[in-house]
Amino acid sequence: MAETLTIDPGSKTEKYKTLLPQIENIISGEPDLIANLANVAAAIYETFTPLWVGFYLVKPSLGPAGRHGPVQLVLGPFQGPLACTRIDKGRGVCGTAWQTGQTQVVPDVEQFPGHIACSSRSRSEIVVPLRDANGRIWGVLDIDSEALGAFDPTDAYYLTKLCEALPHMGTAAPRPSAPPRR
Ligand code: SME
Repeated sequence: MAETLTIDPGSKTEKYKTLLPQIENIISGEPDLIANLANVAAAIYETFTPLWVGFYLVKPSLGPAGRHGPVQLVLGPFQGPLACTRIDKGRGVCGTAWQTGQTQVVPDVEQFPGHIACSSRSRSEIVVPLRDANGRIWGVLDIDSEALGAFDPTDAYYLTKLCEALPHMGTAAPRPSAPPRR
């Protein structure tokens, strides 16, 4: 199905108010997590044209002998330049959002201790944790800008609302009914 996005020409708030219901519409009825995250990243990118927007998802790291090691953030769907693929808990802006459970608004990435510079063009950044129904963090939404101070409490507010809609995606599919017992 072709999807078209309406972009409000007005303020940041108006852009978010136009974007959010469209995102809910785009993801409703589609149970596949990756497909939905890809379209959400594209919708944010089309609306705001940041340097980079995408998701990192909590997944097991690759341990020795093919075993799973501790969980890490692993690169998911995104729009923008190539990015680092794995981030440890507590590292960089993304790992800090994961560890603390707090949205990170970084007006100047050079002032953030341990910032991971995937692109030297990134000047400011916002990272919002993604939580499931039990409050457990399953990933983060990360947006980077080439401008200093691009993100503010308005972004934090609307992106948090956006992220709150995402955990439901994985449960949108009707469960197959159990086979009849013989
Ligand atoms: N700057 C992030 C790394 C991810 S990229 O920006 C895409 C960080 O410090 O966690």
